Formats: sequence, C-alpha cells, structure tokens
Amino acid sequence: MKYNPNVLDCAAAPIAEAWSWVKNPASENLIDMCQAVPAHLPPQSLRDYLGDAIKAGEGATYTDIRGIPPLREALAGNISERYQGTVSEEDILITAGCNQAFCSVIDTLCAEGDEVIVPLPCYFNHQMWLTARGVVPRYLSFNAETAMPDANEARSLIGENTRAILLVTPNNPSGAIYSPECIRQFFELAREHEIALIIDETYRDFIDINQVPHHLFVDSGWRDTLVHLYSFSKVFSLTGFRTGAVVAGQAMLEQLKKIQDCTAICAPHAGQLAAVYGLQNLHAWKLEKSAELAQRAIAIKQAFEHPDLRYRLISAGAYFAYIEHPFDAPARDVVKRLIEDHEIVSLPGSYFGRDQERFIRFAYANVHERHFDDLISRLIASQPSRGYSNE
Ligand SMILES: Cc1ncc(COP(=O)(O)O)c(C=O)c1O
Repeated sequence: MKYNPNVLDCAAAPIAEAWSWVKNPASENLIDMCQAVPAHLPPQSLRDYLGDAIKAGEGATYTDIRGIPPLREALAGNISERYQGTVSEEDILITAGCNQAFCSVIDTLCAEGDEVIVPLPCYFNHQMWLTARGVVPRYLSFNAETAMPDANEARSLIGENTRAILLVTPNNPSGAIYSPECIRQFFELAREHEIALIIDETYRDFIDINQVPHHLFVDSGWRDTLVHLYSFSKVFSLTGFRTGAVVAGQAMLEQLKKIQDCTAICAPHAGQLAAVYGLQNLHAWKLEKSAELAQRAIAIKQAFEHPDLRYRLISAGAYFAYIEHPFDAPARDVVKRLIEDHEIVSLPGSYFGRDQERFIRFAYANVHERHFDDLISRLIASQPSRGYSNE
C-alpha cells in the first residue's frame, strides 16, 4: 500500500511510545505521570443513572448532528455562568471528544498549505493533526520565564494564508494559565485580521472556579472570531465516553456540521447523556475534584523548591508541571533513563514541538501529593553531579 505522506510525516502516538520503555508496567513502584487522565471513576450516581438509562433503551440511537438539546442547553448555561457571558444552545455543537472538535474545526477552516499560529510548547495531537492535514503550524517561541505566548510575535507571523490562532489554556503541556489580558490580545489580533481564535479549554474546570478564565463571551461580537473547544473527559471522568464540544457562531457551525456528519454523524449518545447528568447534578463533586487538584498544584510547586534539586519547575497548573531537566542530553534520553533507572514515567518536551529538548512534562493529576517526596528523592538521585550539567 502507499500511504499519505502527510501521515507518514506525523510522529507516532507519544503515550504508547513512552510506555514501550517501561519494562514492568505492573510494578507498584512506578510513579506514572505520563498521561493526563483523571485519577477516579465518575461518581456512583452517574454510573447508576447511565446504567438505568441504557437498560431502558436510551442512548442507542443517533442524535441530531449538533447533539441532544438538553446537553446543548446545559452547557450553554454552564458557560454563560462561568464566563459571565452570553452563549445559547444554538452556539454549540457536541463532538466525540475535544480532539475530534479540534480536528473538525481545522478541517472547516483550513485547506492544505494554510497556516495556523501555534504557541510552543504545543499539545502533540494538535501538531499531529495539522501535519496530517498538510496545514502549516507557525510557531510562537516559548518564554520559559513567563510561560505566556506573545501576541506581538503572533502579529508578525500573520500572512494571507493564516486561518487561525490556536491557544490552549490551561496549557498542555506547560500547565500555564493564560491571563484574561493575554487572551484578549490574541482575540483582538484575530478579529483585526478576520481569522479565528481557537481556544481549547479542556482543563478550565481545574483552575480557580471563582475566576472568569477570560471575558470574550461578554463581547457581543464573539461569534465572528472565537471558536471555543471543550471536553467532558476530565471534568466528569468520562474519557472513554468521548464527549466534547465546539462553541462558535452560526456561520462556523453550519460548515462544521458537514464535517461532523461525515466523520462521527453525532457524538456518542451515551456520552451525551452522561454529560447532561454531570452538568445538572455534579456541581459539588466537580468543585471537590477541582479543589483537590488546586491543592496538588501547590504541593508540586512546593516539592520542586527542594534546595538539592536541579530540576527546575517552569510552570504548573490544572493537570501538568513543565520541568527543565539538568542534563546536557535530549529530553527523550532523560525520560528513558528516568523510566529505566527510577521508575518515573513522564513525557519528553520534544513531543510538544521544536526547541523543547530541555523540558519534560509531568502529568500529576493521577499521582497523589503524598508521593511527591518520593518523586523528588528519585529525581535528586537521578541528577548529574555538578559540573556535568547544561548550566
Ligand atoms: C489540550 C487537550 N485537548 C484535548 C484533549 C482530548 O480531549 P478529549 O478526551 O475530549 O478528546 C486533551 C487530552 O489530553 C488535551 O490535553
């Protein structure tokens, strides 16, 4: 067979590759910070509800291309409240997870050769999809002091083939939470150039729930520029139910529906039922989980302040800590050694775009903070003696 050269150019799926380096996946000594997955199952009440619904025959049919109305209404209410803005069920299309949302949005906006502005480091599946589609990423450099992208740099990259600017906040892999001001600057830039601002906010439920992540939904013209992506995977522990959403204006959704109809037809019906249940009944549960992760972010920052540690925490938030390692070696080699010699599973920065060899990503969401002392001891044991580092 002959294969699509764009797909041949894509990197292999990173999580599977990192796990292939683990000799004993069943080892109880492993500290697994590889994949961004919730540490717990959905609550029993959701499982009971879903079990009963399926037994009663619900969830077996296709739904409207855009998703079931109660879910669109519940999500519109949730966003309007959280962002203090105006979103209606008409602005929402439910997808088979946030990854599918991204892929469909890119297919809707970009032809081969078109460009998307992407801050470094970037989420590997975004990069893989752009490569697979022949869409050209124009990267914004990573500022390891602020971990924030710079809208002025983005301005200099916009050309006639630019179709979108892509932000992920809270960020995967860096954990950085972009400020509302930073997001606003990118929005204004996108609006000025009549291109889309795509914001993937998969992790927005794991930051201070009382703070508004940004104020774009308050802007009466948001639908002309903003394309918001969301996931139910992490917030209600529904990763396997494949449910996410695109929130955008009618003009965008009309085109997106064509892609959705050809690929998924509709998001999984059972996942949609689970997501409605979550939005309507699990607010307190969500707050509890969010508080646990906020506490873990504080704990990991404190753990990395250890005076003997030569790994430096660059940023941390939501599910991730982005760490500068002390070796004069590619990140892949460092991660392999941490797996083989110290049973710490993480991901090399090189999976997250160019110029990331100095960094590794720790997904700490599924590792309780009681293991952090052990983690730091192992990292100290792994580090080079002074004089052999890249300092
Ligand atoms: C930034 C980002 N977007 C999307 C996804 C995928 O979400 P979903 O499970 O809803 O497809 C992930 C999962 O790790 C992610 O980190």
